[in-house]
Amino acid sequence: MVSREIAKGIHWVGALDFDRRIFDELIPLPEGTSYNSYLIRGSNKTALIDTVDPAKEEELIVNLLKLGIERIDYIVINHAEQDHSGSLPMVLEMYPMARVVTNEKCRDLLVSLLQIQPETMQVVKDGETLSLGDRTLRFFLTPWTHWPETQITYLEEDRILFPCDLFGFHAASSELYVTNEAEAYRSAKRYYAEIMMPFRSSIKGYVQKVRELNPAMIAPSHGPVHRNPKMILDAYADWVSDDVKNVVVIPYVSMHGSTRKMVDHLTAALIERGIDVKPFNLTHTDIGELAYSLVDASTIVVATPTVLFGPHPQVVYATYLANVLKPKVRFASVIGSFGWGGKSAEMIVKMLDHVKVEVLEPVVIKGMPDEAAVVALNRLADDILKKHKEMKIV
Ligand code: FEO
Repeated sequence: MVSREIAKGIHWVGALDFDRRIFDELIPLPEGTSYNSYLIRGSNKTALIDTVDPAKEEELIVNLLKLGIERIDYIVINHAEQDHSGSLPMVLEMYPMARVVTNEKCRDLLVSLLQIQPETMQVVKDGETLSLGDRTLRFFLTPWTHWPETQITYLEEDRILFPCDLFGFHAASSELYVTNEAEAYRSAKRYYAEIMMPFRSSIKGYVQKVRELNPAMIAPSHGPVHRNPKMILDAYADWVSDDVKNVVVIPYVSMHGSTRKMVDHLTAALIERGIDVKPFNLTHTDIGELAYSLVDASTIVVATPTVLFGPHPQVVYATYLANVLKPKVRFASVIGSFGWGGKSAEMIVKMLDHVKVEVLEPVVIKGMPDEAAVVALNRLADDILKKHKEMKIV
């Protein structure tokens, strides 16, 4: 339990969760995570920005007590998801005089998720300000920076942005600020893939809006604080752009080696044609790494054996996930092997209905790949090369 000053009169009072290994029972957390909460003292009023996951509420309270905080006037809730709002009931118990400041949608969610009494809440609209005396908070509604009720808060005089999930990343680090930008870039890209990628078109506008604010610091609610906002803003601008790279992602499962041989052949054929390939064996893949690779890949080739009459369930899971994450891939295909029949390719293509792709002719064969299969895989590699050349990314 430790609180640290990020700027004069502004303290990080959150919690580090070194042990957590999965988020939303879905997203692997190889580096743990943090729940960042910030205390801002103005000349007249004191505000707390976000709380922490309820599993860590004691740490938040101890941090506040260690700082000698006897009164909190406002608790700003930027996002209703419980890793940021879940300690609100406890904080309100400790500081019953505090008003919860949030937008209308978030207020409704706080009522239904945490049974917070609506009369304790002060609703703000897009662009509205709240004075702390010599400091001013301005709120911007930013729907779909994870959930539809999300907002960001800007501390105008200090030019510090508190964007909650946006621009953060999952890491429990003793470093208050980002120091190693290359490592932070990688973690942030993975986080973007897992959390923000489905909302790429909304986030595009927010990146521009934040650039115009010209913040001196970005203090998200996961991971260290960005003292060089340009790094994360440039990275986001790239990820949300329509640009794709000369990369083919191949998530696959092979039960008896036939599909594996097809993946190996296609991988080699693509490399020979100057294309980067990222195969993922789904039996032991970290699904976050698969999501990461999809951020700017141009093509996905799903490779599956046939189980009974359709694709392998591990492949179904990965394809479902890829579909809901909505990467900006432009082309898709399916390869794989069957024993006695099935409709794997059709089923996989149908599952990619949220991704706007052109489907390149699949290669689905009976049994072990033979000479005809090799010819068909070479044809698929040629088709992919042609498409990448048309986009001028080779
Ligand atoms: Fe970090 Fe959407 O919660």
